[in-house]
Amino acid sequence: MFVCRTISEVRQQRLAETGASWGLVPTMGFLHDGHLSLIRAAKAENDRVAVSIYVNPTQFGPQDDFDSYPRDLERDLAILREAGVDLTFTPTDSVMYPAAFETAVSLQYLTNRLEGAARPKHFQGVTTVVTKLFNIIQPHRAYFGQKDAQQTIVLDRMIKDLNFDVEMIVCPTVREADGLALSSRNKYLSPAEREAATVLYRALQAAEAAYQEGERRGQPLRSLMREIIAAEPMAKLEYVSVANPETLFELEELAGNILLSLAVRVGKTRLIDNIPVIAQ
Ligand code: PAF
Repeated sequence: MFVCRTISEVRQQRLAETGASWGLVPTMGFLHDGHLSLIRAAKAENDRVAVSIYVNPTQFGPQDDFDSYPRDLERDLAILREAGVDLTFTPTDSVMYPAAFETAVSLQYLTNRLEGAARPKHFQGVTTVVTKLFNIIQPHRAYFGQKDAQQTIVLDRMIKDLNFDVEMIVCPTVREADGLALSSRNKYLSPAEREAATVLYRALQAAEAAYQEGERRGQPLRSLMREIIAAEPMAKLEYVSVANPETLFELEELAGNILLSLAVRVGKTRLIDNIPVIAQ
């Protein structure tokens, strides 16, 4: 496995085999089974797999957890070697954002809602860094988790709008046995908070069941999720959403596929989760 710290090291390796297809799994490190599922999908569909590890400062707001975000590069590199990854890109801030850097990639509308409303500038940081990663690594396919539903919708729009020659692959959310979606941030949870955190998936599942049983109004589904979260004393709701899975607009009359999503603080930890519901 080539461990590249600079852009020229990546280009040297990436261009060594011009005929090979490359899959990219962009990450912020502290790898878990969710990342490994993306890597497995990338390995199955490409000749070579690259993984980037970079805790991107521009996607964190002043109140966010940039400083405390879990990091363990040596552990991550051992996991990636074991997983058979071909190249890792682990840049420093000065490689990604040298002193005179001033460009940003941003979307006008899709990023105003949900996570974008709660975390201003977050998606601008994501789209800018992913654009850079695409230009540096030049993958044929890029792999992202459904867990960050809005991120996948925003990046899909960006790929189309800017004509990136990259196929976007969204892989299912990986969950613990009790339903908690895997996330590097789960590390922050105390044992009691970890138990309480199952409330996110329970709320989403209840809304999904109500929809499949015939509820066709958005408001009762939002109320149901709010009630379930309110019943968990360690959880504090930020938002619940029943939205169009393409535009992310909130829906009142429901027909067809919907995206159920929520953001909840459990103790100090902010968790998000979602279920894309396919109408039966
Ligand atoms: O999903 C993440 O881990 C990050 O948002 C990403 C895509 C690696 C960009 O920093």
